[in-house]
Amino acid sequence: MTTENGLRAGLRVLVVGSGAREHAIVWKLAQSPWDPQLFALPGNPGMGQYAACLPGAADDVARVLAAVAEHDVDLVVVGPEAPLARGLADACEAAGVAVFGPSQAAARLETSKGFCKQLLQNLGVRTADFGLFRDLEAARSYVRAQGTPIVIKADGLAAGKGVVIAEDEETAFSVLEDLMVHGRFGASGQQVVVESYLTGPELSLMCFVDAETVVPMIPARDYKRIGDGNTGPNTGGMGAIAPVPDVDAALVEEVRRTIVQPVVRALAAQGTPYRGVLYAGLMLTEEGPAVIEFNARFGDPETQVVLPLLDGDLLEVAWAVAHDQLGDVQVAWKAAAATAVVAAAPGYPDSPRTGAPLQLGTPVDGLVFHAGTALRDGALVTAGGRVLTAVGLAERPADARRIAYEIIDRVYFEGKQVRTDIGR
Ligand code: AMP
Ligand code: GLY
Repeated sequence: MTTENGLRAGLRVLVVGSGAREHAIVWKLAQSPWDPQLFALPGNPGMGQYAACLPGAADDVARVLAAVAEHDVDLVVVGPEAPLARGLADACEAAGVAVFGPSQAAARLETSKGFCKQLLQNLGVRTADFGLFRDLEAARSYVRAQGTPIVIKADGLAAGKGVVIAEDEETAFSVLEDLMVHGRFGASGQQVVVESYLTGPELSLMCFVDAETVVPMIPARDYKRIGDGNTGPNTGGMGAIAPVPDVDAALVEEVRRTIVQPVVRALAAQGTPYRGVLYAGLMLTEEGPAVIEFNARFGDPETQVVLPLLDGDLLEVAWAVAHDQLGDVQVAWKAAAATAVVAAAPGYPDSPRTGAPLQLGTPVDGLVFHAGTALRDGALVTAGGRVLTAVGLAERPADARRIAYEIIDRVYFEGKQVRTDIGR
């Protein structure tokens, strides 16, 4: 059987990436009633039971296109931002293969903070007041005029390390010099955004988006700092919860209507329609929700809590997004809660030490999504900063949390780093 838009049994789907986020995507796609044939590039050992893992690097566009041709792929689902920044979605479109993920131009919402901030300003969407600089002296005067604390961001991608909250002028000046004179993040840091410091709880609201329709997912919150009580350096994310107790349906609708929908409409009007997941990183300020950043992809670890709560078929949604038919799909969420806890390697985030034997322990009734794992002589070893994500799923948040920690407690590798306060 085939639906009008070509969705059919046995579709060949390639998921690009290798993290716990991509493991969760593959796991969810594998539950589709359309019984897709799944591939991952490069994938990880946890996905092996659902998908054929293909060699190559996720950000090697030519390699991904070669795999698409070789395996006659019908749909490419892009996990991380790097291949989007390199035009993977555009290349898929040119090759006539459906793709879930925005074009290089639309992905500038994530890949250029300057582009993002200017668009928000033009649309009158709430975001921190900012200046955009290529000139060190001009940036310094702005800092002097605004006072501290102040936030400094490299314009381009910097693997989550391009944001500094400077408590005093001296720190702000040295960060600016690092970026603009010493080229700390290369071209990514030649242009900088300097913006005001906002306070409030954070919210990750990921939305399915096609050229015109925006469908918010269940709200999530991630825990970015390495240490309990939000201490220590920023990481890619040490845990997540969904839904978020202090975020109701009215707030989600407000964000959709006043933030995400205007941005999506503006991109379409510029001739660069957005398709894929648009992740709004928000600060819930006293004046209302303000945009901290957009990501052009699913969040990690937010995806590991959100997709298990999706009450429906991710393949149907992804296919509809790729064909601008999202408005025809019903997207529903389970009345349940999920908690994700990340186990990270010793030394993460600065210099993770990997290659240690890894034991998952006795199985618990929850989910384990692999990230930095590898097989050596048939046995699991750690192979990345974030090693895996454990997810508990239950009616009550407290039970979801308990299950996630039961799984994590049974995971063993030397130097395991875990936050103990996720979801508390
Ligand atoms: P980003 O990479 O832009 O998400 O920033 C990383 C983290 O820095 C965010 O999750 C916030 O916790 C913090 N941050 C970024 N921008 C601001 C801001 N304008 N005010 C306060 N905190 C911020
Ligand atoms: N968890 C934050 C991110 O995916 O960027």
